[in-house]
Amino acid sequence: MALIELQDIRKHYKMGDETVKALDGITLNIEIGSYSAVLGPSGSGKSTLMHLLGFMDFPTSGKMLFDGDDVSRLSAAKRAWYRANRLGFVFQTFNLLPRLSILENVRLPLDYARSDRKKDDLAKEALARVDMTHRISHRPGQLSGGERQRVAIARALVNNPKLILADEPTGNLDTKNVERVMELFDALVDEGQTLILVTHDLEVAQHARSIILVRDGHLVGGEEDGPEDRFPHAGKEQQ
Ligand SMILES: Nc1ncnc2c1ncn2[C@@H]1O[C@H](COP(=O)(O)OP(=O)(O)O)[C@@H](O)[C@H]1O
Ligand SMILES: [Mg+2]
Repeated sequence: MALIELQDIRKHYKMGDETVKALDGITLNIEIGSYSAVLGPSGSGKSTLMHLLGFMDFPTSGKMLFDGDDVSRLSAAKRAWYRANRLGFVFQTFNLLPRLSILENVRLPLDYARSDRKKDDLAKEALARVDMTHRISHRPGQLSGGERQRVAIARALVNNPKLILADEPTGNLDTKNVERVMELFDALVDEGQTLILVTHDLEVAQHARSIILVRDGHLVGGEEDGPEDRFPHAGKEQQ
């Protein structure tokens, strides 16, 4: 079943006399439990696509369904609700608040309605999932990059999101921590989590089960392309 359906999505920016077609006709389903990597050259539209999937922006035209509901033209307040209640975000630069403790950082996405006790319990549960309970009183600056990213993943998990979006989540990590973070993502997907990540790293992309290849605001491997465009060496004799 599809968690998200994009139908002929376009995002155009008017720049004076020129129109920048950041996305120009994207049709795509994100299935529940799927694990996708978004790849493509710089400027191809990856971030724009992630912004739309992350309810940070809305399309110029086209239709977007989330869990069967039409979310193409939501107000800013409704988009904020989806971000807070349905999504988890992981960023290249971790984006933890330096003055808050690890526990406070992970509690942050939880809504005000819950009791402090409940919020602490949920945050600790999420930190246990990423193996970081021994650092709950630390500040982000006292942790290594890999540890910070695991805390950021706990923060993404704390709301029990339907979708996790990770934009270059391993871009600032050394090889060992890349492996650790990817093992964690793989385990979450095995447990049923739906995950989309953007990466430049082909080894990271290989963890995903499907590739979303973007070029000039289009999907490569769409109906207009042959299979050999997506898999350049498929079916060819090895030299
Ligand atoms: N807010 C914006 N205003 C105008 N042009 C934009 C804006 N955001 C992105 N673009 C343009 O849209 C294209 C796609 O950008 P982006 O989605 O950031 O690509 P990528 O993440 O693949 O590098 C680029 O040509 C970029 O310059
Ligand atoms: Mg980008």
